[in-house]
Amino acid sequence: MKRLAEARGSATLGGTSVTPLGSRPALTRIELALPRARSGKVRECFDLGDRLLLVATDRISAFDCVFARGIPGKGSILTGISRFWFELLGAGTPAAPAVPHHLLTTDARRIVDEAGLPASVLPVLAGRTMLVRKTRPLPVECVVRGYLEGSALAEYAHDGRVCGIRLPPGLRRGDRLRTPLFTPATKAETGHDENISFDETVRRLGPELAERVRDLSLSVYRRGAAVLAERGLLLADTKFEFGIPAGPDAGDAPRPARAEGADLLLIDEVLTPDSSRIWEASAWEPGHAQPSFDKQPLRDWLEDQVARGLWDKRPPAPELPDVVVLRTAERYTEAYRRITGAEPTEANGTGGAG
Ligand SMILES: Nc1ncnc2c1ncn2[C@@H]1O[C@H](COP(=O)(O)OP(=O)(O)OP(=O)(O)O)[C@@H](O)[C@H]1O
Ligand SMILES: [Mg+2]
Repeated sequence: MKRLAEARGSATLGGTSVTPLGSRPALTRIELALPRARSGKVRECFDLGDRLLLVATDRISAFDCVFARGIPGKGSILTGISRFWFELLGAGTPAAPAVPHHLLTTDARRIVDEAGLPASVLPVLAGRTMLVRKTRPLPVECVVRGYLEGSALAEYAHDGRVCGIRLPPGLRRGDRLRTPLFTPATKAETGHDENISFDETVRRLGPELAERVRDLSLSVYRRGAAVLAERGLLLADTKFEFGIPAGPDAGDAPRPARAEGADLLLIDEVLTPDSSRIWEASAWEPGHAQPSFDKQPLRDWLEDQVARGLWDKRPPAPELPDVVVLRTAERYTEAYRRITGAEPTEANGTGGAG
C-alpha cells in the first residue's frame, strides 16, 4: 500500500484520476502509451502482441453500477490474491495436477521494461498489474457453486433446477449443496450473464472442451475451498475463465467455438472476493443472506439509500461517503490477510511471480 501512496505524487500519467483519502489515493482511470485491448468494470487491458498487461484499478461495482469513487488499494489486493492462487494452483500437488495459467509476472520493473514504458509509471503499476499470456477467452463463464445463492437461488425458487440440474426439494438460501455444481453462464458483452445448461455449453464449446473446463473448474474449486476452509472461510461460489493461447495478431479474432486438444489456460482473476462469494464459516447460517466478506459495508449503505428513496439501483450510482469507502477498503485488506495468510503491505508489491 505504501507504493500506492507514492503514486499520488505521480502527475506524469495523464488521465489518472486520484481521489485523496487521507494519505491513500484510489486509482480509477489509467492511461498508458499502449494500445488498449479492453476496458472492463475493474481492469484495463493493454495489448502487447502475444501478451496482455492487466491493470486492476480501484474501481468497485455493485448492483451492476460502477461507482465514481474507487476503493484505495483494491486493485492491488485483487492482484495480490490472484497471484497467490495462480502460484498455488500452478505448482500442483501429489493429489492435484498443476493448473496451467496465464500469469507471467507481477514484477512491475520487469513489466515496465518489457512493455517499453517510462519508469515514471512504475509506482502506479506496482502491485496492481499482471503481465499475462494473451488468450482467446472461451465464450462461457465457468461458475462452480458449493452453496445455494445468487442466480442459482432464483432459478431453484422458480423450478427446482439450476442450469438444468434438478436439486432436492426444501433447500434454503445459503444451504450447502450435496456436491459442488458446475453451473456455466454466457459471457455477456453487456448486461447480465445468463446461466446455461451443460448441453448448451457443449453446443458452444464442443464436447471435449466442455468436459475439460467442467472437470478443471470443479477441481480448482475443490482445491480453493479446501485452502479457504483451513482459514475458516467457505467458498460459496466462484467464477473461472479459461482461454486458449493466442498469437500476436489475435486481437479481434473470433472466439473459438471448438478447440479439441488445445492448450487451456486459467485466465483473468482467480478466487478473489470480486469473482467469488466467500463467507465466514463460523457465521454461516442458512435461511437468509450471508454477510458479504468484502462489499457488505457498501451494500448496507446502498440498501439504506434505497430504503430512504434516495436511489433506485439504477445508474447513475450515488457518490460514496468517506466512511463507506474506508470500511470497504478495510474489508478488502482483511480479505487479503485471511485468504493469503500474509500482510498486504509488501507481499503484493514489485516482487514478481518469476
Ligand atoms: N489472458 C487473457 N487473455 C485474454 N483476455 C483476458 C485474459 N485475462 C483476462 N482477460 C479478460 O480481461 C477482462 C478483465 O477485465 P474486468 O474483469 O474488469 O472485466 P469484466 O469481466 O467486464 O468485468 P466483470 O469481471 O465485473 O464481469 C475480462 O474480459 C477477461 O475475459
Ligand atoms: Mg472480470
